Amino acid sequence: MTKADIRIQHWQTALKEKWGIVADLSPLDGEYDLNFLALGDQGNGYILKVMRAGCEAWLVDMQVRAFEHITARQPQLPCPIVVRATDEASLLTLKDERGEDRLVWLLGQLPGRCYAHVEPKSDALIHEVGHVLGGCALALADFRHGGLDRDFKWDLMRAGWIDDEIICITDPARRQIIADISAEFAALTPELSALPKQAIHNDANDYNIMVTGTLSEPRHVSGLIDLGDMCAAPRICDLAIAAAYIVLDHPNPEAALAALVAGYHAAYPLTASEVDMVWPLLRARLAVSVVNSTLMAMENPDDPYVTISQAPAWQFLESSTIHGGLLSARLRAACGLPVVDGAERIHTWLEQQCGNFAPLMGSDISDAPLGSLSVEDSTWPQNPFHMPLEEAARVGEEFEDQGRIWLGYYHEPRLIYAEPAFRKGPWKASDRRTVHLGVDVFTVAGTPMFAPLRGEVFIAEYRAGHLDYGGVIILRHKTSQGDPFYTLYGHLDPEFLDRLQVGQVIEQGEEFCRLGDPSMNGGWAPHVHFQLALTTEGIEADWPGVGEPDEMYLWRAVCPNPAALLNLVDDKVRYFPTEKAKVEKGRKSNFGGNLSLSYADPLMLVRGWKHHLFDEWGRPYLDAYNNVPHVGHAHPRIQAVAADQLKRINSNTRYLHPAQTAFAEKILSKLPDHLEVCYFVNSGTEANELALRLARAHTGAKGMVTPDHGYHGNTTGAVDISAYKFNKPGGVGQSDWVELVEIADDYRGSFGRDDPDRAQKFADLVDPAIASLKDKGHGLAGFIAETFPSVGGQIIPPQGYLAAVYEKIHAAGGLCIADEVQTGLGRLGDHYFGFEYQDVLPDIVVMGKPIGNGHPLGVLVTTREIAESFDNGIEFFSTFGGSTLSCRTGFEVLEIVDDEGLQENARDVGGQLLEELRALQRKHPSVGDVRGMGLFLGVELINPDGSEATDVCTYVKNRMRDHRILIGSEGPKDNVLKIRPPLTIEAEDAKMITIVLDQILNEVGSALPQP
Ligand SMILES: Cc1ncc(COP(=O)(O)O)c(C=O)c1O
Repeated sequence: MTKADIRIQHWQTALKEKWGIVADLSPLDGEYDLNFLALGDQGNGYILKVMRAGCEAWLVDMQVRAFEHITARQPQLPCPIVVRATDEASLLTLKDERGEDRLVWLLGQLPGRCYAHVEPKSDALIHEVGHVLGGCALALADFRHGGLDRDFKWDLMRAGWIDDEIICITDPARRQIIADISAEFAALTPELSALPKQAIHNDANDYNIMVTGTLSEPRHVSGLIDLGDMCAAPRICDLAIAAAYIVLDHPNPEAALAALVAGYHAAYPLTASEVDMVWPLLRARLAVSVVNSTLMAMENPDDPYVTISQAPAWQFLESSTIHGGLLSARLRAACGLPVVDGAERIHTWLEQQCGNFAPLMGSDISDAPLGSLSVEDSTWPQNPFHMPLEEAARVGEEFEDQGRIWLGYYHEPRLIYAEPAFRKGPWKASDRRTVHLGVDVFTVAGTPMFAPLRGEVFIAEYRAGHLDYGGVIILRHKTSQGDPFYTLYGHLDPEFLDRLQVGQVIEQGEEFCRLGDPSMNGGWAPHVHFQLALTTEGIEADWPGVGEPDEMYLWRAVCPNPAALLNLVDDKVRYFPTEKAKVEKGRKSNFGGNLSLSYADPLMLVRGWKHHLFDEWGRPYLDAYNNVPHVGHAHPRIQAVAADQLKRINSNTRYLHPAQTAFAEKILSKLPDHLEVCYFVNSGTEANELALRLARAHTGAKGMVTPDHGYHGNTTGAVDISAYKFNKPGGVGQSDWVELVEIADDYRGSFGRDDPDRAQKFADLVDPAIASLKDKGHGLAGFIAETFPSVGGQIIPPQGYLAAVYEKIHAAGGLCIADEVQTGLGRLGDHYFGFEYQDVLPDIVVMGKPIGNGHPLGVLVTTREIAESFDNGIEFFSTFGGSTLSCRTGFEVLEIVDDEGLQENARDVGGQLLEELRALQRKHPSVGDVRGMGLFLGVELINPDGSEATDVCTYVKNRMRDHRILIGSEGPKDNVLKIRPPLTIEAEDAKMITIVLDQILNEVGSALPQP
């Protein structure tokens, strides 16, 4: 037996004798003490803690009692339970295997893994961390122990010790950072010392927080462990220490801090002045950490870990652009506390004074109409990513009426803030500021303005940028009780620059500026942007006039509705976007349950542009999923053609119209010569339904062969040939005139990519299917397949497959129908249609969705001979199929594909995407296969055993949506990511997809069971 075995056996015996627990022991990592994981035969787990010989008894006693205290006060908190020995002792002195005395105690094991190893660290999880920490602090509020008043370096109250050691930081810039933090801390000390002290955890770092949950289950905090650093201090020190770890390496530290502090506040309410201490104390804690590890590195020059471990803290301290004042406002707002002291008094005063302010425009504007520029109500600007000056100068012209005053809403999400400066990240689909924080007053340039109340000039300057403020003035005011607040006037004629100086007093009612024209006001239609702010902390330089929708909890509080200052009631000028919840409720009551909605938290989309979409708050999404807007959402040429035709006539195919033949000729020009006759219908479904009729009319037979998992539409006949529908639980089942063949999937199917004969082998499966139809007396009408099966999992059948199948079908007297709804019209890049890649000549080609770019349109094209078989004297008529509007729309779509080089774009951007996705496949074991062509792509996600990873796929799809990318999923087990964007997608969007996907696949990897 090794020494280690002897030791384990010794403590196993002790556990049995003293606690009556029979368990297997395995040693855990520990710096000084021995810790064992003890697993009982009932599946119950414990941590046996054997303290090092000679350890301070008070320290262990304090922890044991504190845990017991927490359990007694707040039994629901996820803290370890101290398991008492059979004699009721919670802390025992036992001899170790060498006869030395050891303090020994036992804790119940908590489930989960360390917070450090959990990704993503969502705001909801961080909120819960705060909540648990606050709950523990509340439970410990009346805990007393002699050991709490310890004199050690991790007591944040004593952080001043770093002053004496600062010299160890040799880099002057870094030393300055620490010196600044230290000075800030010193200034805070009187206020901090005045706070009551209590027992605190004092070390809620990433390794002392346990988290449960998997990809498919929500994550929850399952434990706050290790009270080894407990001491008595103001509770805010505890929170600041946790905060110092939470921000490191976090992509959005401000949001993380808001979640943490709000969570704590919900469990153990903080005061506003405590909240203000979070930021300086957080920095003090990081300074203590880096100074401490620098000293340790000096003591252990050969240990690289010491230096590596301080890198994230330095990185944060050196690069953070967080403004402490604005952060405090944010944290206060997140807790529902007033953002500045006196905020409530200011609100009350403004409300009381409403009606007594001098009219800003010199006259009463209470009857002025409002004009909405919202995402929902307005189409300004046409391109939500770029508003040229000519357009900005005309914004809202529909509300203009000979210079009368009209008002723009407060709290209105708008897309007119189109330029990259309004984005928070590098991508077009990055979060952006959209929500208006002021009220606009539109009228004629040159209109004079009068101060609503006495104020002092705080800023008077000219901001020249495109769509910036132009001339801008900020006045500082005081309420009668002396609380300061600010008003901003933007888009002014800068003539005031010669007259106004900072500090100058403007009396109530005094004329002080004029509306600028577009040449001087940032480029906008003449108006004043009028905004109220309760603080200027952190915003003087930029003064945001719009806020991000998800940050409105902060901006509504910092920049409240300024209506009162215009002598208006708040609701008159406040915008209320359509409530998504209401729409969802209506949807549930008005429609059938199987009208499905994407995402657990559905999206309400109100605008689109090319391959981007916008919800009611103006949040942008990259549309990597929808193939219907083939040439892009809201294409101006489609808008123009549709509007033009609707002004003229929209009739049907019973009358002649040149648009019909123009559309037919355009389609035929893209197809092989033998396809000569077009039928226009309303959808892919209707076209496939018609294809069945043609095949039957031509062959006189009924039987159809089709690959498994296919989809051809939603009507009775189309469902009968769609295994994806009829074979689902509750489906209508397989008709006896339909024979299924295995889908030609050479990744997961019967014949793999290593088999050179796989195309022929998959095709041979058609033989028994044909034979079976003949046996059943149906004969063979034909074969129908999506050329590249989409719902089957974005499959590209091996080349040669369709040629071999078509040969067999033709030989048996059947017709071959190519459903090109998904693959046609240039999506594949190298080919206009999928059947070209398979080098076959179909008898019937079906087109749908993309050909109308959203307008309901389906097309069937066939040979003259087949058309003649169908032409049996009974009229074929589809009322809306081939309407004048449809023909013009379809023609325009095909022209745009050519004119804008969209097929070439599909080839180039799709090629780039495919390459980058393949790089992800090499990096992430969860990616089993990457396949596709052009902008028809699939990423098959797998479990470690190679099986279909349905849960992972659902997770990835939802997380992509969190990152503002919409993608779909397909495949019999729904484990294939479907990337199928409008053909306008650009290289930078493809980059966004792969960068975000990489990040999410890392999360997937981190959730796999740890070895
Ligand atoms: C391959 C294929 N064929 C036909 C259809 C049916 O088209 P629609 O929904 O326009 O009727 C679809 C729809 O998803 C499809 O993907």
